[in-house]
Amino acid sequence: MKVVGLMSGTSGDGVDAALVDISRQKSGLRVRMVAFHPLPYPRSLQQRILSASVSGTVSEICHLNALLGEWFANAALSVIRTAKLHPEDIALIGSHGQTVHHLPHGIKDAGVGVIRSTLQIAEPAVIAERTGITTVANFRPRDIAAGGQGAPLTPGVHALLFRHPSRARLIVNLGGISNVTYLPRGSGIGELVAFDTGPANMLLDGLMSRTTNGRVSMDREGRLAARGRVDGRLLAKLLAHPYLSQVPPKSTGREAFGVKMLDDLITMQQTQRLAIEDLLATCTRWTAEAVGTARRWIKGGIDEVIVGGGGVRNRAIMSHLTDVFTPVPVNTFELHGWDSKALESVAFAVLAYQTATEQCGNVPTVTGAAHPALLGCIVPSGPGWLARLRSHRGRR
Ligand SMILES: Nc1ncnc2c1ncn2[C@@H]1O[C@H](COP(=O)(O)OP(=O)(O)O)[C@@H](O)[C@H]1O
Ligand SMILES: [Mg+2]
Repeated sequence: MKVVGLMSGTSGDGVDAALVDISRQKSGLRVRMVAFHPLPYPRSLQQRILSASVSGTVSEICHLNALLGEWFANAALSVIRTAKLHPEDIALIGSHGQTVHHLPHGIKDAGVGVIRSTLQIAEPAVIAERTGITTVANFRPRDIAAGGQGAPLTPGVHALLFRHPSRARLIVNLGGISNVTYLPRGSGIGELVAFDTGPANMLLDGLMSRTTNGRVSMDREGRLAARGRVDGRLLAKLLAHPYLSQVPPKSTGREAFGVKMLDDLITMQQTQRLAIEDLLATCTRWTAEAVGTARRWIKGGIDEVIVGGGGVRNRAIMSHLTDVFTPVPVNTFELHGWDSKALESVAFAVLAYQTATEQCGNVPTVTGAAHPALLGCIVPSGPGWLARLRSHRGRR
């Protein structure tokens, strides 16, 4: 069946929409990407999302939830047009939404205990209404309710797409945050090791934006970092960040590597009189080394590192990663036939398919959940939605 996956990550750079064809074969699910359409947010919307994630008022979050619903619906309609298909051809939409807050460790509430939470917005009712397609959203809260971190949710999909009988692979996603999935040779789902490794584009984007008064949103191709020099003392300090030595399962976000960290870095830059290029070079190296810490929790070797996410376009990160993992080859998703920017949205199409076909999407050994869980909330397309979904299941 044809499913659209929608994703906007912690970078808040825009909605990525993938249209995929999913079919069940004897060997497991077969997933093929039909079309991909990234819909970038204007800078002003990105800034609004990022500041709402830290200090949004209830009314701003309420408004953004509906506004982003419209953006997500537009992204879905655009990718369907790109594929020269119609909404009737699509069985389901899987929407990750936009994370505005993620508190997997929770907050202690008197008399109740520790309450753990996560909040993704982009109203699925708006998506279902505008597209006329049944929409699955809010994937993370069920895993959290079952005792997990709610993240990462992509490792099961990584296993589906990249598992190899004789090669152990480390899948790396360089989004706002970096996360890894280790796939031992011929691994079963229970043998996966996956977690967020630390900050990636989030801090680099933040530094660029801060030091240019919001004019420049990213270190394009990593050019500025490539001109700088890594400051050994600062790097050692950054590598001592407690998140890097925390034992998995673990997940992180803007709460740990957001505004406060940026303030600290800018202060350090000023007191140590570092050039911005040097600060960027150091943080870029930190990103790669944080990914390298994954090896502490992996039993067994790595035959290949496969990297995706927007950070693949940052040549400075890629060259540091090659250095950190030498002699293991570091390749991109493209070498394996997948668009680096598209894979997370593909994953949420697969997760929606799994929910609609009553398969659990989380990997408990990865998230720490007490059991496999059926993820998400389903917003029906309208009357007759179940019969329509069944007819899509019967189609090839
Ligand atoms: N040409 C490029 N050069 C350097 N960095 C890039 C480039 N294109 C994208 N990026 C980085 O990738 C980020 C978006 O990656 P993405 O995988 O969408 O992350 P997220 O899942 O957090 O939204 C951008 O914010 C930017 O930092
Ligand atoms: Mg993105």
